[in-house]
Amino acid sequence: MTVTLDCRICGGTLHEFFDFGRQPLADAFVTPGDASEEFFHRLAVAMCASCTMVQLLEDVPRERMFRTDYPYLSSGSTAMQEHFRATARYFLDRELRDPGDLVVEFGSNDGIMLDTVARAGRRHLGVEPCAGVAQAAAAKGIRVRNAFFEESTAADVAATEGPAKVIYAANTFSHISYVDSVFRGVDALLAPDGVFVFEDPYMADIIERTSFDQIYDEHFYFFTVRSVQAMAAHYGFELVDVEHLPVHGGEIRYTVARPGARTPSPAVARYLELEKVGRITERSTLDRFASNIESLRATLRGLLERCRDEGRSVVGYGATAKSATLTNYCGIGPDLVSFIADSTPAKQGTLSPGSHIPVRSPEAFADPYPDYALLFAWNHAEEIMRKESRFRDRGGRWILYVPEVRVL
Ligand code: SAM
Ligand code: TMP
Ligand code: ZN
Repeated sequence: MTVTLDCRICGGTLHEFFDFGRQPLADAFVTPGDASEEFFHRLAVAMCASCTMVQLLEDVPRERMFRTDYPYLSSGSTAMQEHFRATARYFLDRELRDPGDLVVEFGSNDGIMLDTVARAGRRHLGVEPCAGVAQAAAAKGIRVRNAFFEESTAADVAATEGPAKVIYAANTFSHISYVDSVFRGVDALLAPDGVFVFEDPYMADIIERTSFDQIYDEHFYFFTVRSVQAMAAHYGFELVDVEHLPVHGGEIRYTVARPGARTPSPAVARYLELEKVGRITERSTLDRFASNIESLRATLRGLLERCRDEGRSVVGYGATAKSATLTNYCGIGPDLVSFIADSTPAKQGTLSPGSHIPVRSPEAFADPYPDYALLFAWNHAEEIMRKESRFRDRGGRWILYVPEVRVL
């Protein structure tokens, strides 16, 4: 376990702004009866006084987080399926114009984005360390390397496949503390006029919506346009475009290129200005974020305790990685939320990390419907509420906590 005291990128001084204490690994669902000790780490978050990158203070070894049985499936939501189909079409139309052009995706998971590229008969390669999801992608006919993307993997891919026109990573680059090795890998693999595109949760949205449950072991960095611009420059690249995406509660898609290879879009300057006006990187903003986290905990716990004291049943919906921070930090266990309904086969029949709330299939949700459902998968609210519309028809109420605690 590495405890970081200086910025992982520029070596600047880190200012801690929140400490969630001892937390489990967010995707380490527990098998009932398993006697082995659960792994906990200190989850604390800080901002660099020099480059403004927000980062965790402790770096969990990657093999502990990204194992063969990693349970998260990217195709678990129809909205994300559509998002990744659109992303593939965007690359096919704008970047992969020559039939020989190659796209490499790291963190390709079950192959949801590359599937569209493969169906179009175009050159592609996924790089995915978790064997289970990598095999799921390979079974669909997608070319995948079961490895961590880093300098050596990228150099090897460059030697065997030639340069990549596009290197892409969704909800993965911010998971990687060793960005120096990744940038050296991008340098080895990227074509002279190629682009490195990545999309990750946006710190400005997390602050504005108090969606502190985005903070957990796998999310090592929390990007802003300013900090990504500084990071790209630090490693010899240039940030040339940004696009705000509605997925996962607000993300930014960053496009990075070799210096001078592309004309920067006006969106970069616009977002830098918005972040300045919004004082995103000021200590007072982070202090306010910290006090909003504490108030949210008090309000949500109060509501759940009232439900329990009045004999109302509460079930969770979506055993998200995010819910690990929420339940463990707020002290929400099976006494307040009796089980969590989730469609992921590998999560069903397990207990949630640390808080040990049983996870069941969505069929259990209707058998019988509870009085309240706490929506842990708030980023999929529309899709889930549509799918479970009978719940409300039967008098059930949804509890949401982003951007504030409310009952619908
Ligand atoms: N890209 C998918 C999406 O957006 O739904 C999957 C995101 S999932 C939260 C993170 C993925 O990153 C996991 O499949 C994990 O195995 C992968 N990952 C973590 N470190 C990696 C690395 N160094 N190289 C490639 N993939 C990595
Ligand atoms: P995510 O927020 O990290 O994408 O995780 C969403 C979780 O919610 C994942 O475990 C799958 C689950 N889920 C359902 O159970 N039903 C659904 O309809 C959707 C969209 C997600
Ligand atoms: Zn820094």
